[in-house]
Amino acid sequence: GRRGDLAGRRVIVTAGGTHEPIDPVRYIGNRSSGKMGYSLAEEARDRGAHVILVTGPVALPDPYGVEVQPVETALQMRDAVHRFIADADVLIMSAAVADFRPATQATQKIKKRSSGAQGRGQSEEGEFSIELVQNPDILGELAQILNAPPAQKTTCQRLVRVGFAAETEHLVAHAQTKLQQKQLDFLVANDVSRSDSGFGTETNKVLLLYADGRIEDLPLMSKASVAAEIWDRVVPLLSVQEQG
Ligand code: C5P
Repeated sequence: GRRGDLAGRRVIVTAGGTHEPIDPVRYIGNRSSGKMGYSLAEEARDRGAHVILVTGPVALPDPYGVEVQPVETALQMRDAVHRFIADADVLIMSAAVADFRPATQATQKIKKRSSGAQGRGQSEEGEFSIELVQNPDILGELAQILNAPPAQKTTCQRLVRVGFAAETEHLVAHAQTKLQQKQLDFLVANDVSRSDSGFGTETNKVLLLYADGRIEDLPLMSKASVAAEIWDRVVPLLSVQEQG
């Protein structure tokens, strides 16, 4: 049975999308609903894990029995992950982390151009541009940290790492690149161009890609069922390290 197979384990799940502030009232965001991550957190809780749910702003209620760490930005999500990583057994990054953030955040609400006047980033035609800078890749950085020689290593024991990839084309090729770059145990690849899979849907159609090149094609199922399938595959990775 699955019940209790994560007892005594500490797991971190990230969920939702990040909000990258432009000014006090605006942000750059994405369509992530948080449903997949919340399902993962609830499933791990039901199997006995201590669950830390690092979540971007979503419209879902806090799950009971889960330690919820709300964050807004990618930088805050990275800080939260780093805060809990040292004694975690598993990190599942299902969050849609913004790849870019505005280079600066305006302290006051940006006003539209009143006739004649031109503000920062505004052209005569009424165009407006925002300079973006790249956010750190949370999983990518961890791969570097965990690969560093022992002196530089954090106190992490082997941490099982699972990533997600939402793609609209070349699903397998893009997913394989991410799997390698981020050095994950496996990657859950999601074709978000399907109407029944991905952002905001109740169901998901995913492929699981492993470091050894294996690919598993799971049928369309509820996000709760996908969560159970994912934990089913994480648990054996935990027992392997226990024996080693
Ligand atoms: O490269 P891409 O953003 O498509 O990779 C997706 C995976 O990497 C997800 O698991 C996501 O949570 C994670 N990610 C990350 N840090 C970022 C962007 C994505 O850890 N800055």
